[in-house]
Amino acid sequence: MRIYLIGYMGSGKSTLGRELASRLNLSFLDMDQFIEERYLKTVPDIFREEGEIRFREKEQACLREISVMEDVVVATGGGAPCFFDNMEFMNLTGCCVFLDVEPGELVIRLKRGDVIRPLIQEKPAEELVQTIEEMMRRRRPFYEKARYIISGNSITADDVINKIGMNCG
Ligand code: S3P
Repeated sequence: MRIYLIGYMGSGKSTLGRELASRLNLSFLDMDQFIEERYLKTVPDIFREEGEIRFREKEQACLREISVMEDVVVATGGGAPCFFDNMEFMNLTGCCVFLDVEPGELVIRLKRGDVIRPLIQEKPAEELVQTIEEMMRRRRPFYEKARYIISGNSITADDVINKIGMNCG
């Protein structure tokens, strides 16, 4: 079984993913962390030194590697589904679950979080909701290709398990 959790930054892919993996007896893999270990560079450093396009190429290459791993819950990077054929590729190689969290809630979480996110880090707090809403509008058509969509501001591992049932084997 291979589950890809997709959704915007701050939607809970990593936190919920860890819990989901442990509940389902699967491994957990964080895609950003995988990229950092593969290229021995942090995600913000890749963005700063090489630019977003190079980051997206690395992300795609890592996705190819991850797609052959068995019995794993993958927390994907928020932009991964929106580049190249990544979304189609994930749908072919696993079960995609879109964690659909409202922009207002994402802002609260992102302000609280300590992870550096190059695409939003420069934004003043008052522009963050608008930035997220705009990005979500562009990204939603990709995210919505997921096999399962779960909407809410406090999605739990149980919600995911109830939604996917026995259908992701
Ligand atoms: C990105 C999301 C980040 C990371 C990079 C770009 C995006 O991952 O891959 O900063 O484009 O939304 P998280 O969704 O895990 O924060």
